[in-house]
Amino acid sequence: CSSGSSANTADNGGDDTITIGFAQVGAESGWRTANTDSIKSTLTADNGFDLKFSDAQQKQENQIQAIRSYIAQGVDVIAFSPVVESGWDAVLQEAKQAGIPVILTDRAVDTDDDSLYESFIGSDFVEEGRRAGEWVSQNLGTEPINVVELQGTTGSAPAIDRKEGFADAIADNSNVTVIDSQTGNFTRAEGKTVMEGFLQAHSDIDVVFAHNDDMALGAIEAIEAAGKVPGKDIKLISIDGVKDGMTALADGKISYIVECNPLLGPDLAEIAKKVVAGEPVDKRIVTKDEAFDQEAAKAALPDRKY
Ligand code: AHR
Repeated sequence: CSSGSSANTADNGGDDTITIGFAQVGAESGWRTANTDSIKSTLTADNGFDLKFSDAQQKQENQIQAIRSYIAQGVDVIAFSPVVESGWDAVLQEAKQAGIPVILTDRAVDTDDDSLYESFIGSDFVEEGRRAGEWVSQNLGTEPINVVELQGTTGSAPAIDRKEGFADAIADNSNVTVIDSQTGNFTRAEGKTVMEGFLQAHSDIDVVFAHNDDMALGAIEAIEAAGKVPGKDIKLISIDGVKDGMTALADGKISYIVECNPLLGPDLAEIAKKVVAGEPVDKRIVTKDEAFDQEAAKAALPDRKY
């Protein structure tokens, strides 16, 4: 737990409304849209917030600029989901010196100084990758399995951690080999382009491990355009569990999805209120994720909100 020290206890001038600046990654995926909706629909005036929201279009420099502008405006709290893991110490120091507490949502920063943020709310990405790798290792028989990996944004926490978790899970199974691995930047369009390249370079792909549903959906388009059947000729495993991904799973095109929960707005609201009130908060809040096979996806889809 971190304690809300006086330097980090924002003075919101007697007004109970909490002004919060949120620097979002972008709008790269269905997951991100659901995450943005959750934040915007929770940090409302009715709920005691004045939300200032910015979209960094997946560029770290835009995010740093947005954070600097929130510091200049003297907001009560800054929250953000870092595009990449490294390179944040300078701007986070500026926030600290201005006495503005910072909350990380979804993605971590790589820093030696954990006094630079109050709390980090989000999934365990290593565990997500591990669950995907375990499924591949345990469910596809004993013949050699060639995997191609569609990585998320280079240098981002989910790309680094999911790759690591997956590699860990298959390490003891000599039948499973990752034969190629490239970034598709978490988007459907780049997932498709990179998969086209994989299909040209390799005639022996058994499995696609995509770091998110959108890249898996792009890969499905490339596989079908190459005259192959996703789910039969080439199996796909992905992470997120957005509606389009779950639909492809229910249809048998994707074989397994590990969930990454995007609905972080309520936790962020609660932690922001505590931080502003000077109450202690947990330094790390891990969100709960499920995993779905075809039957589970069919059962979950009717109630899936995003
Ligand atoms: O940081 C979470 C990841 O970012 C999601 O898995 C992906 O869809 C998003 O772009």
